Amino acid sequence: MKEDLYKKAIAVLDANFQDGGFTIPSAGLYPFQWKWDSGFIAIGFAHYDVEKAKTEMRTLLDAQWKNGFIPHIVFHTENDSYFPGADFHQSELHPLSSKRYRSTGMTQPPVTGFVLQEMYRIADDKKDMLNFIKEEIDKVYANHEYFYKNRDPQDEGLVYIYHNWESGTDNSPVWDDIWKTMNPPEYDFVRKDTTHVDASQRPSKREYDHYLHIIDIAKQNNYNDAKIAELSPFLVQDPLFNAMLIKSNQALIDLYIQIGGNEERIKNIIKWQSKSIKSFNDKLFDADLGAYVHYDLRNENPIRHITSSSFSPLFANIPSPERADVLVNTMMDKFGGEDKYLCASFDPTNDRFNPRKYWRGPVWINMNWMLFLGLKNYGFTDVAARMKQDSIELIEKYGFYEYFDCRKDTGDENPTGYGGNNFSWSAALFIDMVNTD
Ligand code: DGY
Repeated sequence: MKEDLYKKAIAVLDANFQDGGFTIPSAGLYPFQWKWDSGFIAIGFAHYDVEKAKTEMRTLLDAQWKNGFIPHIVFHTENDSYFPGADFHQSELHPLSSKRYRSTGMTQPPVTGFVLQEMYRIADDKKDMLNFIKEEIDKVYANHEYFYKNRDPQDEGLVYIYHNWESGTDNSPVWDDIWKTMNPPEYDFVRKDTTHVDASQRPSKREYDHYLHIIDIAKQNNYNDAKIAELSPFLVQDPLFNAMLIKSNQALIDLYIQIGGNEERIKNIIKWQSKSIKSFNDKLFDADLGAYVHYDLRNENPIRHITSSSFSPLFANIPSPERADVLVNTMMDKFGGEDKYLCASFDPTNDRFNPRKYWRGPVWINMNWMLFLGLKNYGFTDVAARMKQDSIELIEKYGFYEYFDCRKDTGDENPTGYGGNNFSWSAALFIDMVNTD
């Protein structure tokens, strides 16, 4: 069974790979290149087609702007099956945006550093992969420099996101209280996502009004970072985003040491890194909840909800071993019941939990992959094994869907996976997980 699934995973990735040298997350629903998807996809390719893995990363990094920014979607083609597309985002408003690719003017979690390191770990021909990394690594460094220079107005070592789409966890209930502080106009637009996927599994129309309104404010200011920091109604320090930056910082340090030279760069990253880890632990840990939380920088208050992002610091070696114990206890207590698959994206004991709706509850394979590696690293062998086993079981049961119900019994006559099918990162990270003990 697993061998067949492995072949199927490869077939999913190969079918989603495009002539332009990038991989779509899922046909129909997501017809372009997404930043964090691309990173996870490259890890899958690295196991069986190194050249495709390199191409995926090369193409993404080729879309980098002159200020080091890497956009969340690269619009390689004209395609009217997605909204909002290139004409809405208008990345050309920013003076340093790519002249070659149209894109969004927002980013997504900083995966590129740790992805290069994973590609090195997986590669059979280490010398060849290190040569590839030498070609690309300074772009990743420039991207981190962009974050610390432009996204950290109080110089805390914690970078902000200015849009919920930058978090990757698009419609998390964590944002609900921020939406209450805003009153956007009613936009008149045609949704495309709900022509591909049942509306009950996607964000609401009113949520899209909020999403579009934040982009409009950024566009009115030509995507200028300082103006966005001053004016965006959404400004959040996100534990997942910052954990991935910290994980990627460490990857850059390790890879630069391996390459040799680069003392100045290594010194800078070490400085960013120690400040980031300290602030992360001081500011984002909520001792009463026993978990890391998001911080609303616009309204200056912590957002006290537990999500799968709350546990992501395990992936980046951020908590002390004692704090890691607390985190895992919280996870198992609230998310880990025998009637559930690990790991729901939002606290199943909270009123806002919805097991079918995108990031308001369902299980996501990329989160499970990060948590699996983090748990393993801290020595939580049994929980790590369950995280991997649950991920594989969900894929065996339902296929390579975008997200899954965490309830073992959904009460449905014909239970199914949710969102897009033949979803690239579910396939890519399945490949990586079955290859990792
Ligand atoms: C979408 O369109 O839902 C995407 O996830 C945005 O990145």
